[in-house]
Amino acid sequence: MATRLTVNGTPVTLDVNPDMPLLWALRDHLKLTGTKFGCGIAQCGACTVMLDGVPTRSCVTPVAAVEDAEVTTIEGIQGDAAHAVQKAWADLNVAQCGYCQSGQVMVATELLQNIPKPSDEEIDAAMGGNICRCATYARIRKGVRAASDALEA
Ligand code: FES
Ligand code: FES
Repeated sequence: MATRLTVNGTPVTLDVNPDMPLLWALRDHLKLTGTKFGCGIAQCGACTVMLDGVPTRSCVTPVAAVEDAEVTTIEGIQGDAAHAVQKAWADLNVAQCGYCQSGQVMVATELLQNIPKPSDEEIDAAMGGNICRCATYARIRKGVRAASDALEA
């Protein structure tokens, strides 16, 4: 049975196995390849998308679970917090290889939407579940701080 949902503001119908992870539906069927496969077991955060506004690991989210949901990927993320994060990431060259960074941007954006002036502890708590094999953690923290400052200005 087809699954209907909204992806980046556009209604879509996915005619795929409902057990398929959302990640593969996004990448292989909708060609939204900004969301990455890392571990496949909800441990790294590379596959993070917004599901009804909440960062969600798409590698372990079956298509059946997103019927009528709103999914936002890195290709469609919008709003003041998202723009501030993306600008800070570019200004500070946060990414190294970049593989983990769409997931990092998703989580950083949601953090600043909820806590515009996070403490270092709040940044670490929010970002701590997203693994970066290039160890860009210090720049990620600086990026969140710069985005926060830009939002306040
Ligand atoms: S690929 Fe989904 S959490 Fe690692
Ligand atoms: S920038 Fe390479 S894995 Fe994070």
